[in-house]
Amino acid sequence: SMMIYKTNDQVELMRQSALLVSKTLTEIAGTLKPGITTLSIDRKVGEFIKDHQAIPSFLNYNGYPFNSCISVNDVVVHGFPGPKELIEGDIITIDIGVILNGWHGDHAYTFAIGDPGEEVMKLIQVTKESLYKGIEKAVAGNRIGDIAFAIQEHTERKNGYGVVRELVGHGLGRKLHEDPQVPNYGKRGSGPKLKEGLVLAIEPMINMGTRDVYTEDDGWTVRTNDGKPSVHFEHDICVRKGKADILSDYSIIEKAEKTNPNLFTQQILQPLN
Ligand code: MF3
Ligand code: CO
Repeated sequence: SMMIYKTNDQVELMRQSALLVSKTLTEIAGTLKPGITTLSIDRKVGEFIKDHQAIPSFLNYNGYPFNSCISVNDVVVHGFPGPKELIEGDIITIDIGVILNGWHGDHAYTFAIGDPGEEVMKLIQVTKESLYKGIEKAVAGNRIGDIAFAIQEHTERKNGYGVVRELVGHGLGRKLHEDPQVPNYGKRGSGPKLKEGLVLAIEPMINMGTRDVYTEDDGWTVRTNDGKPSVHFEHDICVRKGKADILSDYSIIEKAEKTNPNLFTQQILQPLN
């Protein structure tokens, strides 16, 4: 595989791209409530990105017809925004990509609209934890399989959830999808070696029930086979010696989430970024 290592200056530009996604998710987090449509969220996403001198990168990517992917409940990823109103107890993953100064940012966050119940809140919490467990392994000298194993260990083996096999994380840079692929399952010590300057989008997609999924006739919407909920968190990180550098920023999203009385929140896992 053809891995592209970024210089320190390029990583700083990518941090700005990742941060613009974080800021967009923060702006949206403040507006979430029952009764709004996912299409209205998508419109705001497009406006916010364009107001910040950037391009919504998902729009027209392989023909994708919206600014963002909005995946509610049993939708795993690539949900189409639409006229359906959110209701109390829905969980909603908002996945956003931007191109700023030629560099991609791409990350996602799952929110709970009101109370989805204890079981679903645990799925959200464990999926977010698994993302950080993966990031802990994203250090120079390790391999992709170390990240993958850590995510699978925490979600599948420890908590009995289903790890989606068909969709994976990826390298990120001047293109939305660069090498290597970053699966959320695998063997320790397997796969490509990690070197400083490799920027990755790590994105566990974790199902409450079966890991099996199907794609709807629209060619995009991916749903769980059993109709049970699925959660997706995604961070952009840069591989470094000893500790990965997280380019995206959940702390501002979590602050907006806590402030919005319509949202149920998880524990804050890594308030410093
Ligand atoms: N985070 C997803 C990914 O990395 C979103 C891509 S959706 C698409 O693949 F619309 F751009 F295809
Ligand atoms: Co991605």
